Order: sequence, then structure tokens, then C-alpha cells
Amino acid sequence: MIRRMATDARTATNPTPEFPAFPDTFLWGVSTSAHQIEGAVDEREPSVWDVFTAEPGRVKDGSTAAVACDHYHRYREDVALLAGLGVDAYRFSVSWPRAVFAGGRGLDFYDRLVDELCAAGVRPVPTLFHWDLPVTLDWLDRDTAARFAEYVSVVAERLGDRVTKWITLNEPAEHTLLGHALGAHAPGRQLLFDALPVAHHQLLAHGLAVRALRAAGASDIGIANSHGPTWPASQDSADVAAADFYDVLLNQLFADPVLLGEYPAGIGELMPGDVEADLKVIAEPVDWYGINYYAPTRVGAPQGTEIEFGGLTMPADLPFSVRQIEGVPVTDFGWPVVPEALTELLTGFRERYGDRLPPVVITENGCSYEGIDDQDRIAYLDGHVRALHRALAAGVDVRGYFVWSLLDNFEWAEGYARRFGLVHVDRETLERTPKASYAWFRDLLRAQR
Ligand code: BGC
Repeated sequence: MIRRMATDARTATNPTPEFPAFPDTFLWGVSTSAHQIEGAVDEREPSVWDVFTAEPGRVKDGSTAAVACDHYHRYREDVALLAGLGVDAYRFSVSWPRAVFAGGRGLDFYDRLVDELCAAGVRPVPTLFHWDLPVTLDWLDRDTAARFAEYVSVVAERLGDRVTKWITLNEPAEHTLLGHALGAHAPGRQLLFDALPVAHHQLLAHGLAVRALRAAGASDIGIANSHGPTWPASQDSADVAAADFYDVLLNQLFADPVLLGEYPAGIGELMPGDVEADLKVIAEPVDWYGINYYAPTRVGAPQGTEIEFGGLTMPADLPFSVRQIEGVPVTDFGWPVVPEALTELLTGFRERYGDRLPPVVITENGCSYEGIDDQDRIAYLDGHVRALHRALAAGVDVRGYFVWSLLDNFEWAEGYARRFGLVHVDRETLERTPKASYAWFRDLLRAQR
């Protein structure tokens, strides 16, 4: 049962009624991912995350996503929450290990979910890979890209009569860096720069998926890449060089191949296979480009010590070191809150990619804070939506904004310790309670119409 919003603070909290107007066609939404909310682990094949979470010490609170928010069984209640919020669209992910379960019968769940969304007037926007790789597969193998395209064809065949907007991959950068280079996420490898083939194979999978979706008649396809401005710790040449390198790794390595059909200088030769031929596939035109934005990163020269930052341990031998950004608020996760960096990011993208940049959609933006009267989250979202409007006013073609996330969920290696939801989920009862930020976002959307 959805608990009624109990206090006045939760029903009328829009502190900013005079919000700037966005275009009528602007797409407002919220995002989630399968592994983080669905649960129902017995009704899918295992993923690399199931194996990873079973290993002691991998997830900070020792939890697993076996139940998560039990969205698999409570999706009707969650769609009602989306309808109450008044969003145009809902970005969720299809679990590959569920899609292949029981000879494809696992896809029945997404059939039901999509029907429920359509009946509620909320546009379904599935992401086809959000890190929960079937345990039998490995992104170090090139063949995984081909397997992905086959799976995408099956999903498109099944849902394509009702789904028109698609996202191929979520954040191949984080899946490479956290999962394969640093070992903080599944599958827990610490390959450092030997993880680069994982990036290439995911990008190839993206390109092949675009082709598979087009073959199934889709005409509204994007990718959700994570990006953020990289700021040098100082103007010293060693700091500037380290920051430039970090910028290549996080931003250019994943955007250039998709948007320009090339890797940044020095990267292509580190990738496996016939890179030139693969780049033609990777650069298969997308209809829009999704950006997940949370925070900028301040980067300096290596300091020769391990660094703890935002829940991550970074080894001493990396060619850069991440530094605190002084003088700004931080979220409960310790991530800096810098809304104007979103404007900087978007105008920077337009400068770098020019006409090669298709319309942009912010596919994730949000923050972790405790509490149901979450004024800090409202302040974060308020600042970022305004920053987005400034990018629009500066001429960046932004077409949508999705808040991460609808529900407090399984936050990967942090377990349930980080709460990103507009809706609070009680860990014992799984009861949903809309937070103050839910009412704020609902009021913002109403005011925009
Ligand atoms: C991911 C989400 C994650 C969020 C907050 C993004 O990197 O796509 O799955 O929960 O950030 O950490």
C-alpha cells in the first residue's frame, strides 16, 4: 500500500513557483534499473551481480538485491506512483538474465509493465543493459556484443508494438571502471588499464543494438552515458595533464566513438580487434544522446597514496588523483553539489561536438539523502533543473530530464545505505512513502503544463 503523504510539508513544497518554462514537448521522467528494484531473483537467470554480492565484503552493508524493492510483484503500485507524479516517461531497464529465463517467458513481466505504463499514460523507455550481465557472459569476450544484439532483437520484437523510445546501454564507463578496472562493482575485476576491451566491446554492443533496433523498426534510439566536467586541481602542468587524461577516460572515450566515429588520440591502438571497422558500427547514428550527470570531478597529479572518494578506493598507481571540491555542499554519499557544472557540461558538449551532437536527454540526475522531508534533494533538483534551463537558453538542444530515482533502491556496492528515491521505501515492510521531493517534482511538472 502506498502510504498517504502525511504532512503539509509533503503536499505543497514547491518553493519555486516561478520556474522558467521548458518547451511543451520537453520529456519529464524518472529512471530506475532492474537489478536495483525488481527482486524476484528466482524468476530470472543469475547475473554477475548475484555472484558479486554473495562474496563477503563486496557490498558494504552485506545486503543483496534478491528482494530489493520487490518491484517485480509491486509494479502496479509503482506505476500508480508514476501516474501520481505526472511524469511523461519512465526509464526502466530490461534485465537480460530475466529476458532469457524460462525460454523467454521472463519477458512476460516487461509485457505487463509496459501495458500498465501505457494504460497510465506514462511512456515506457527501456534501457537494454544496466550492468546486470548474465553470469555466463563476459564483456572481455567480443562475442558478448553479438549476443547482446540478439537479445535486443528479441526484446524489440516483443515490446516494439508499444515501446518507441529505446536506450541501448547505461554508463559503459562506470561498468568498465568500477566493475573491471577497480573491482568495486561486479564482476569485481581489478584490471586497471587492461579493462579497456570491456569499454570497446560495450560500445560495439551499443552499435550492434542500434542496428538491431532499426531492423525492428525503431526510430527513437539513444544511449545513457555518464559525463561530468573535469576540473584540474590547479594550473600546474602536472595537474592539468592528469585532469585532461581523466576527461579522456570518463568523457571522450565514450562520447567520441558514438558521436564522431573515432577514439581520442592514443586510445584506439589500445583496443582489441579491427578497431576501424568496429568504429563504423559504434558510430551508427543515434536519434538522441543521453547524459547521466551527478557531479563534476576535481583531478590532480597522482599523490602516491590510495584515495577514498565517494565510496570508492582508488589505487595509488593511477596516473591521476581525485580531490575534494572545496566550498560546496555534499550529498550523503559525499558527492559535491554543483548545479552550474551541468550547464558547463552541456555547453561544453555542444562546443566539442557541434552539429555531430544530436538532441540531448538528461537520462539521470539525482542525489542521496536520508529522510522523507528531503529539502536537500529539492534544493539539488531545483538547482539542476535551472542549470539545465540555462543550457537550453544558451542554445543546447535538450529534450528531456529524468530524475534518478523513483524509489530508494539497491545502490550497488553501497547496498541500501544510500537513498536516491523521490519515494521512500521501508527496508522491512517495503512500504512506499512519497517524500517532499516527490510533491515538489509533481508541482513543478504541473506548473510546466
Ligand atoms: C547509475 C545508477 C546509480 C546511480 C547513483 C548511476 O551511475 O546508472 O544505477 O544508482 O548512478 O549512484
